[in-house]
Amino acid sequence: MKRSTLVKSNLPACIAAAFAWLALSGSALAADAGKPSADKVARGKYLVTTSGCNDCHTPWTMGPNGPEPDYSRMLSGHPEKMELPPAPKPVGPWIVSAAATNTAWSGPWGVSFTANLTPDPETGLGKWTLRNFVDTIRTGRHMGRGRPILPPMPIPMYKNFTDEDLEAIYSYLRTIPPVKNAVPEPLPPAIAPTASKQ
Ligand code: HEC
Repeated sequence: MKRSTLVKSNLPACIAAAFAWLALSGSALAADAGKPSADKVARGKYLVTTSGCNDCHTPWTMGPNGPEPDYSRMLSGHPEKMELPPAPKPVGPWIVSAAATNTAWSGPWGVSFTANLTPDPETGLGKWTLRNFVDTIRTGRHMGRGRPILPPMPIPMYKNFTDEDLEAIYSYLRTIPPVKNAVPEPLPPAIAPTASKQ
């Protein structure tokens, strides 16, 4: 008699434990497959806003107190329609120049234009996986295998982010408003011999 009461009284606990396990593993799977937690996104926002991404990837505009990032185009990179004259020639120790938007940079590497980091699928990072993002930052090459990422993108510093931080940044970038803006390809250095057209 005693034994059966024991079984009886333990059975609901076992079932409850099994359900709790199912619920837990279910939510872990859901997190993997879908939305990151609000905490992770908040951490990503914190890292993006303290690590200067908006300094270069959000075009600056003239505000009442001088140039400031135009958050209506947040992190959308160098504006595609902006026509630029050739960069000024470097003189003495002044070897780098930047456009007023802070999105186009001229230096010994040529002219680089800051990338569109919004989730637009065609012109931004919309189709990037977490892996593409982490590989880009860790190796300093587009998606880990393409062309080298040019200055002044601070790859030498950002490659020191932890995996957790990079995942948080990536998760946050997926939540910001997508902006359609096709950033131009970089231009080669003016001093390099011009490639012969054949
Ligand atoms: C000092 C300016 C600067 C800062 C700060 C900066 N970037 Fe960049 N970033 C650039 C430039 C310029 C490029 C384009 C380089 C090129 O075309 O090779 C770039 C390229 C990238 C790319 C590569 C895109 C691609 O298609 O390969 C990613 C990803 C990126 N930045 C993310 C970030 C993130 C995230 C932050 C903040 C944590 C950040 N950047 C901060 C200047 C900057």
